[in-house]
Amino acid sequence: MQQADRFPRIPPAARAAALLSTLALSACEPTNQGYAPDQPVVYSHAVHAGSMKIPCQYCHVAAEQSRFAGIPPAQVCLNCHAQVQKDHPEVLKVKRAVETGTPIRWVRVHRLPDFVTFDHSAHVARGVACQTCHGPVETMGRVEQFAPLTMGWCLDCHRRSWPAAREREAVALLNAPSKGPDGQPYPPGEAPETRANRLTDCAVCHH
Ligand code: HEC
Ligand code: HEC
Ligand code: HEC
Ligand code: HEC
Ligand code: HEC
Repeated sequence: MQQADRFPRIPPAARAAALLSTLALSACEPTNQGYAPDQPVVYSHAVHAGSMKIPCQYCHVAAEQSRFAGIPPAQVCLNCHAQVQKDHPEVLKVKRAVETGTPIRWVRVHRLPDFVTFDHSAHVARGVACQTCHGPVETMGRVEQFAPLTMGWCLDCHRRSWPAAREREAVALLNAPSKGPDGQPYPPGEAPETRANRLTDCAVCHH
C-alpha cells in the first residue's frame, strides 16, 4: 500500500500515536447531512440525469479512474447548449464563462476533512453505485448531501464482507515473512511490506 511506503521507518504504533494526537487537535464537526447550497448557475440534475437520462459519468468523467469524480468544465454544457435553450438566462451565464475563460465557481457540497483519504475509483470500480452514497441525485433539482459522511458511516460499510478485499488480506497473510531482518518474529498480521490493509484499518482512511 502507498501509505506504508510513505513512512517507511516509522513503526505502526508510533504512527498511530502521531495520528491520534493530530486528530485530537481538530474539532469534531457536526454532520452536514442535507446541506444544499445555492449555486452560481441554476443547474438541475432532475432535468439532465433524470428526465434526459444523461449518464453520471458523461459529466463526472473521472469517477471510475481517479480519487475525484470531478465537476465538468462549462464547455461540456455547451456541447448541447450551443443549440438547445441558448437564450435561457442561466445558459447565457455558462456561455459568458466560456467566452471570458472564467470558470464557474460551483459551491462544493460534499467535503471530507483534510485528514481523511477518500477515493472514488476504489468504490466505483467495485460496483458501488453513486446513489449508495449520494442518494437519488437524478431526482434532485439542487444537489444535497444525502449521507452523513461520518467515520461510523464509512466503517459500517467497510465492515461488510467485500470478497476482493478479503482475498487480498488472505494472500498477503500467506506471503508475509514470519521474521523481520533482526530475526525476531513479527506479531501475527504485522509483517510490514506484504500485509494488506483491512478496510477497517485506520491507515486506509487516515494517512
Ligand atoms: C450534464 C452534466 C451532469 C450530469 C449528467 C450529472 N452531473 Fe452531477 N454535477 C454536475 C454539475 C455542473 C455539478 C456542480 C453543480 C451542482 O452541485 O449542482 C454537479 C454536482 C454533483 C454532485 C455534488 C458535488 C459536490 O459539490 O459535492 C454530485 C454528488 C453529483 N453531481 C452526482 C451526480 C450523479 C450521481 C449523477 C448521475 C445520476 C450526475 N451527477 C449527473 C453536472 C452533471
Ligand atoms: C447532453 C445535452 C446537455 C448537456 C450536456 C447539458 N444540457 Fe442543459 N439541457 C439540455 C436540454 C435538452 C434541456 C431542455 C430540457 C427540457 O426543456 O426539458 C436543458 C435544459 C437546461 C436548462 C434550462 C432550465 C431547466 O433546468 O430546464 C439549463 C439552465 C441548463 N440546461 C443548464 C445546463 C448546464 C449548466 C449544463 C452543464 C453543467 C448543461 N445544461 C448540460 C441538454 C443538455
Ligand atoms: C462510497 C461512497 C461514494 C460513492 C460510491 C460515490 N461517491 Fe462521490 N463523493 C463521496 C464522498 C465521501 C465525497 C467527498 C470527497 C472529499 O471531500 O474528498 C464525494 C464527492 C463527490 C463529488 C465532488 C467532487 C469530487 O470529485 O470530489 C462529485 C461530483 C461526486 N462525488 C460524484 C459522484 C459520482 C458521479 C459517483 C458515481 C459514479 C460517485 N460520486 C460515487 C462518496 C461517494
Ligand atoms: C457502501 C459501501 C462503502 C461506503 C459507504 C464507503 N466505502 Fe470505502 N470502500 C468500499 C469498498 C467496497 C471498497 C473496495 C474494497 C475492495 O477493494 O475490495 C472500499 C475501499 C476504500 C478505500 C481504498 C482501500 C484500499 O486499500 O484500496 C478507501 C481509502 C476508502 N474505501 C475510504 C472510504 C471512506 C473515507 C468512506 C467514508 C467517507 C468510505 N470509504 C465509505 C465500500 C464503501
Ligand atoms: C473507512 C474510513 C475510516 C477508517 C478505517 C477510520 N476512519 Fe477515522 N474518520 C473517518 C472519517 C470520514 C472521519 C471524519 C468524520 C467527520 O468529519 O465527521 C474520521 C474522523 C476521525 C477522527 C476525528 C474525530 C472527530 O470527530 O473529529 C479521529 C480521531 C479518527 N477518525 C480516528 C480513527 C482511528 C483511530 C481509526 C482506526 C481505529 C480510524 N479513524 C479509522 C474515516 C475513517
